[in-house]
Amino acid sequence: METTPVPPGIFHDVLAAPDRVHCPGAQAILSLHGDEDQAEIEILNPWIQETLELRRRGVDHGDWIVLKPGAFAARPERPAEALLDERWYEGKPILLPNFLSPKQVQEAVDPYATLYNSKGLRAWLTQYLDRLGETFAAGSNMHLHEECRDLERIKLGIDHDLWVKLGKLSNHKADASRRLHFSFGKEGADDASRDILRHRLITEIVELLLPESRSMRTNPWIAEHVSRWIGGPVLPTQHIAFFNAPNGGALWHHDGFHEPLEGGQRGVLYTQVAGRTAWLALSIDELCHLVREFLEYLTEGDLPWVRTRIAPSQKAFDRLVALAKRFPRLRRELARPGGGELSCLIHAAPEFTALCADAGHAFLLGPGDALLMPNHGLEKTVMHTVFCASDTPTYAISAALREDKEYPDLTSKANAPARSARGRRSSRRRRGRSC
Ligand SMILES: [Fe+2]
Repeated sequence: METTPVPPGIFHDVLAAPDRVHCPGAQAILSLHGDEDQAEIEILNPWIQETLELRRRGVDHGDWIVLKPGAFAARPERPAEALLDERWYEGKPILLPNFLSPKQVQEAVDPYATLYNSKGLRAWLTQYLDRLGETFAAGSNMHLHEECRDLERIKLGIDHDLWVKLGKLSNHKADASRRLHFSFGKEGADDASRDILRHRLITEIVELLLPESRSMRTNPWIAEHVSRWIGGPVLPTQHIAFFNAPNGGALWHHDGFHEPLEGGQRGVLYTQVAGRTAWLALSIDELCHLVREFLEYLTEGDLPWVRTRIAPSQKAFDRLVALAKRFPRLRRELARPGGGELSCLIHAAPEFTALCADAGHAFLLGPGDALLMPNHGLEKTVMHTVFCASDTPTYAISAALREDKEYPDLTSKANAPARSARGRRSSRRRRGRSC
């Protein structure tokens, strides 16, 4: 079957569309619109690995069909290394299948069951007193931000203002997802800190508590490729362990900061340890083009119910169309939290989700797989949205990638501009990783 191509038909046409993207290593994924000819689906059956039902916080994001490996051979493109370079520099996601070995996956200890209990973070840290030692011993409880859905925040060690925080991903009753965030200093203001000493300490702590994270620093592929791309050794830091549960996941967002490139956060590496997640991930420019394409369909009269939903009046619709005509304005708007004024459109489920999947931007990450998302500032970053693709809570570790060298810390008092200007800069920078 792996060498037999998908037969001619509507699904083949979608796969072979000249503007469909084929990310190296990714399995082909197509959306089901609900109006397909049943006979076409039956013809495709031998090539279908599985069907995924995407649901997030009570919202139906449609069904995807995942084809078996080799079901569709994309046209030969440039050499693999050239494609990788291109995807990095254009801010497109790079899939790394089997980034963790089966042994690493098998030996990983999923902390979700402990963390999910009341005061679970304290209990989990207590299990590892010997690993943390006196240097990183769990200290006092710290201030919580209710709007951030914080559950527990605990200081680690005496010096350097290091901490770990457990929180919910949403307040939806049916979403039992959790996130475990390791960082330092003040949230928001220090999210983009260049204090390499504290970044290294965070990496050290995470590798003690979550040993499976070590490969994010030591993996030869990362050492060879990412180090070459960023011009020096790479340090994964400010890790977030994600436990995306059924009905959970992340809305559209990016993980970039408005900051100078060198010395900044250069990307995010998301490593799936247990369970599976389904993704839409693409460069912000690619998302801009899909937003324009979607608006063209609506303008031509397609999906009238979607048009009514996202723009109740002609004036509101015209405003979206006018915004999308100006590419830099469109890109700036999509980079705002939640997608700014375009939030209603990019979260128009399942229709916009289907458009993105059929354009080749859907991924399925299983245990051991990783997704690398480069950042080159807000104009070249990876936009992404995540769904749980398992029946039970999943486990993944995400880390920001930085150059492992000293740079002036633009967020420190010594280097920051006047207070008022610093405040404005911090608010622009404050994005926070949702994944
Ligand atoms: Fe993210």
